Amino acid sequence: EPMTEQTPVTHASAKIVPQLPDMQTVTEVKHFTDRLFSFRVTRPASLRFRSGEFVMIGLMGDEDPATGKRKPIMRAYSIASPSWDEELEFYSIKVQDGPLTSKLQHIQPGDGLILRPKPVGTLVHDALLPGKRLWFFATGTGFAPFASLLREPQTYEDYDEIVITHTCRELGELTYGRDLIEGLKTDELLNEVIGEGFWKKIKYYPTTTREDSPKMGRITDLMRSGEAFTDLGVPPLSPETDRAMICGNLAFNLELKEMLESYGLNEGANSNPQQYVVEKAFLD
Ligand code: A2P
Repeated sequence: EPMTEQTPVTHASAKIVPQLPDMQTVTEVKHFTDRLFSFRVTRPASLRFRSGEFVMIGLMGDEDPATGKRKPIMRAYSIASPSWDEELEFYSIKVQDGPLTSKLQHIQPGDGLILRPKPVGTLVHDALLPGKRLWFFATGTGFAPFASLLREPQTYEDYDEIVITHTCRELGELTYGRDLIEGLKTDELLNEVIGEGFWKKIKYYPTTTREDSPKMGRITDLMRSGEAFTDLGVPPLSPETDRAMICGNLAFNLELKEMLESYGLNEGANSNPQQYVVEKAFLD
C-alpha cells in the first residue's frame, strides 16, 4: 500500500520508548537545608523568556491504581537563572508529603524533568515604570525570580540602586541568596557588561524570624517601625523614585502590597506598567 501523508511513521524504538514531549535533563542538584534545594536543567533551544518569569515544570506521578495510568504532576516555578544563561535553574522547597516536591527532591543529574516552554509572569522589568531604586521583597523560595533578575544586566542599567530584602525562618534558608549575591562580585559577564563594581549598587537586607541572626524580624514589621530604612540608609518608598517586586507567601504578599499602596505605589502589569508588581512563591 502506498504511503500517504496520513500514514503515521513509526520507528521500532518509538514503540518501546514512549516519546515524552517537553523532557529536559537535570545537570546539577544542590541541597541547602532539609527544606530547600536548587537544580539546573538543560534549556530547550526554542525557549525565550524574560528574567523574572515562571514556567510549569514537573515529573510523572505514580500509577493510578484504578486506571493504571500515570499523569504528570506540574507546578509553576520561577526561573532562577537569567535569560542569557544556556541552562535553566530552579530553587525549590521540599515538602515531605507534597505531590511534586516529595519526588522532585530526589532528582539526580541525568534524570528527566518535564518542562512546558511557555514562560509567563509579572515580575519583569516591562511591568514597571522607570525609577531610581528597585526593591526586591522575598520570603523563602520567593527569592528565585530575583536570582534571575540579579544576574540580568538590565537591572543595573535601569536603576541606580537595588535593595534586596529576604525574610526566612532560619539562617540556612538565606544561603542560596547570600551565595548568589556574593558571587555577583566575581561575575565576569556582569562586570564586563555593566562595569567593574556594579555590585556596589546592591543593598542586601536578610532577616530571620525563628533563629538568631544579626537582623531578626519580618521585613514588614521592620519597615513599619522605620528600622529597615535606618539600617539601609534609604528613605521610605516613594512613588517618584521607588519601584518594587514582591514574591513570597500569600500573607506576606498581601501585607506588603497594602504597605506599598500606603506609600502611594500602584500595582503594575505587562499591559500597564506601574510602580510595583507581585507574584506568589510556589508552595507544594
Ligand atoms: P514567621 O516565622 O514570623 O511566620 P514560610 O516559610 O512560612 O513561607 O515563611 C517564610 C518567612 O516569611 C518567615 O520568616 C515568616 O515569618 C515570614 N512571613 C510569613 N508571613 C508574613 C507576613 N505576613 N509578613 C511578613 N513576613 C511573613
